Amino acid sequence: MKQLVFATNNAHKLSEVRAITDGYFAILSLDDIGCHDDIPETADTLEGNALQKARYIAERYHVNCFADDTGLEVEALGGQPGVHTARYAYPDRHDPEANTRKLLDELKGQTNRHAAFRTVIALILDGKEYTFEGRVDGTIPLQPTGTEGFGYDPVFAPDETGITFASMGVEAKNRISHRARAVQALCRFLMKADEQKG
Ligand code: IMP
Repeated sequence: MKQLVFATNNAHKLSEVRAITDGYFAILSLDDIGCHDDIPETADTLEGNALQKARYIAERYHVNCFADDTGLEVEALGGQPGVHTARYAYPDRHDPEANTRKLLDELKGQTNRHAAFRTVIALILDGKEYTFEGRVDGTIPLQPTGTEGFGYDPVFAPDETGITFASMGVEAKNRISHRARAVQALCRFLMKADEQKG
């Protein structure tokens, strides 16, 4: 079976991708290839960050690999927090509760609550670069709702359901999430590329 390195050690992301590629590709984590580096993410777009991480691994380990980056883009905030989503409240650390508080504060009195979660995956396969996108549109409610999931899940309600990711349950979320859609686009491409090679 062909091997592909996913530039992450996030167990949730690994199991999501492995569930879709099961039987077609063996997905290795950074741990699996002995990479314990803090991979730089200094680009100013999601695409740039995903490519930066994938190139870092491809250049050093000479493997086929992919990396992802996700951002929440809020219309009334001109697309922010975007690439700064993880460290929105504090530039030096990831504090999910402070992030959601800051988001609700910034949107106080704002009637345009439209936002989108976007995931970009960058793939380097046989030396060629490809990118895939997954997007889900939704709204930011006036207050956090629901207890499941992580990060901004209590303050993002996809248009398809009208209730927050944190109120939907993980399985329902994973069927329509930005990351699931990006992963599905990646997997469709990989399987097609595999068929064409024979
Ligand atoms: P990453 O690029 O996957 O690490 O995502 C960047 C940041 O976006 C995370 O630290 C979370 O704060 C947020 N985020 C990404 N995906 C989700 C999600 O599915 N729900 C809620 N927050 C998310």
